Amino acid sequence: MKKTLVAAFLGLLLISANAAVLDGTWRIDQARRGGVTLHTFLVLRQKGTELAGKVVVNDGVDLPLRKAHFEGPDAVFSIDWGTDYRVHPEGDKLRVTIIYGAKDREEASAVRVAETDANPPAVIPLAALEVVPANGLAQTPPMGWNSWNHFGDKVDDATVRETADAMVRSGMAAAGYVFINIDDTWENGRDAKGNLVPNTKFPDMKALADYVHSRGLKLGIYSSPGPVTCAGYEGSYGHEEQDAKTFAEWGIDYLKYDWCSAGRIYQDSDLQAAYQKMSQALARCGRPIVYSLCEYGMGDVWTWGPKVAANLWRTTGDIQDNWKSMADIGFNQNRLAPYAGPGHWNDPDMLEIGNGGMNNTEYRTHFSLWCLLAAPLMAGNDLRTMSAATLKILNNREVIAIDQDPLGKQGERREEREGIEIWTKPLAGGSQAVGVFNRNDQESPATLTWAQLGLSAAPKALRDAWQHRDLEPAAGGWNGRIPAHGVVLLIVK
Ligand code: GLA
Repeated sequence: MKKTLVAAFLGLLLISANAAVLDGTWRIDQARRGGVTLHTFLVLRQKGTELAGKVVVNDGVDLPLRKAHFEGPDAVFSIDWGTDYRVHPEGDKLRVTIIYGAKDREEASAVRVAETDANPPAVIPLAALEVVPANGLAQTPPMGWNSWNHFGDKVDDATVRETADAMVRSGMAAAGYVFINIDDTWENGRDAKGNLVPNTKFPDMKALADYVHSRGLKLGIYSSPGPVTCAGYEGSYGHEEQDAKTFAEWGIDYLKYDWCSAGRIYQDSDLQAAYQKMSQALARCGRPIVYSLCEYGMGDVWTWGPKVAANLWRTTGDIQDNWKSMADIGFNQNRLAPYAGPGHWNDPDMLEIGNGGMNNTEYRTHFSLWCLLAAPLMAGNDLRTMSAATLKILNNREVIAIDQDPLGKQGERREEREGIEIWTKPLAGGSQAVGVFNRNDQESPATLTWAQLGLSAAPKALRDAWQHRDLEPAAGGWNGRIPAHGVVLLIVK
């Protein structure tokens, strides 16, 4: 009896202490690299000790509160991105601790704002669908480098120049890598005329493009059909035509256009029309610009990508630098083979080779698989400091030739048994590339019969693309042992 009374009293105290003090819309301002301030909104609905609502992350994605509860005067909640929040009322502000995963945390303060501040901008109607004529670019899968996987928001002008130098110096440029692509976090905001301007990390975009061009390479950039990018920086929403012109004036050769906050404005059924809008703007901008769609495989993009003159489109969520992520993506692209071809490619995301989360056997598998898939080859590592072993993988010309084969066919799985997968890719001139993959966690035996390749007899010639060695084709087929997570990559003539 006594205990219940005490509990009831404490409960009452707690409710009065929390008397809906959090209820409302709060804005957190976060300083970011490049002199940019990002906004996150906490939209909190409090009734006594009940707390619900959402977080508008980086001004661009609405995520509901999960596991919201009070710990004394502090409210604690999570969002599905694996981020946790602790908010502590302090006068007319909130003290906020944001915990990203296990290690990273950020202290911030939130001010009360009008509820409408957290709303997305009004919807600008999209034009009716039509077929945008192909731009004629990317007749083989684009090859280059992208800043995101290794540098994230640390990319800047100096990194880009040094990467261009490294691409030439390492021999990668000579092997076909040409694009130097700046991913998210280069943007600042708009000037008085509405022109998109870079932040302080990129003092002069035109001068940077000139530099990259002087090295015989091409420069790529990144934006979003939404008002802000995935990292919360300025997007192209409502400025598509103007931004395409700006990119052309700077000398940009490639645009990665990332859905991100467009999801707050448009429906999924608007994907094609939204991507068409930028495509038409690019077609009018006066410069050939490779058009790369990033929509994480939403909306069966492969069925309409060519209609918006896309040169490539993402087929999956973001890759991570580990075996599971890479294998889950790479080995699941089979059903998309019919949609790839010269000028328009499936993009299973950028390479992680050399970033340290896999061993070199696994990175060889990563590269082999991407080449059999006729995937874009965007190195995602630090080219300035990569090891000889990393370069040897990225720069294996026999393997690159499989990816860049002019027939432009995406490879397919022929066989899958006991962790061994056989993938083949037809090549121009009647040869085929064959990958025998071992997905098992231990070394495993593998056999390949000529019949599995549709051959009635042993091929004329057989070559191991990683060993750079001609093999003697045995009568019935090939067999051998493959290391854990490894591959044997053969050219069958
Ligand atoms: C998304 C994309 C990534 C990268 C980031 C940048 O997650 O899928 O490839 O561009 O945005 O914020």
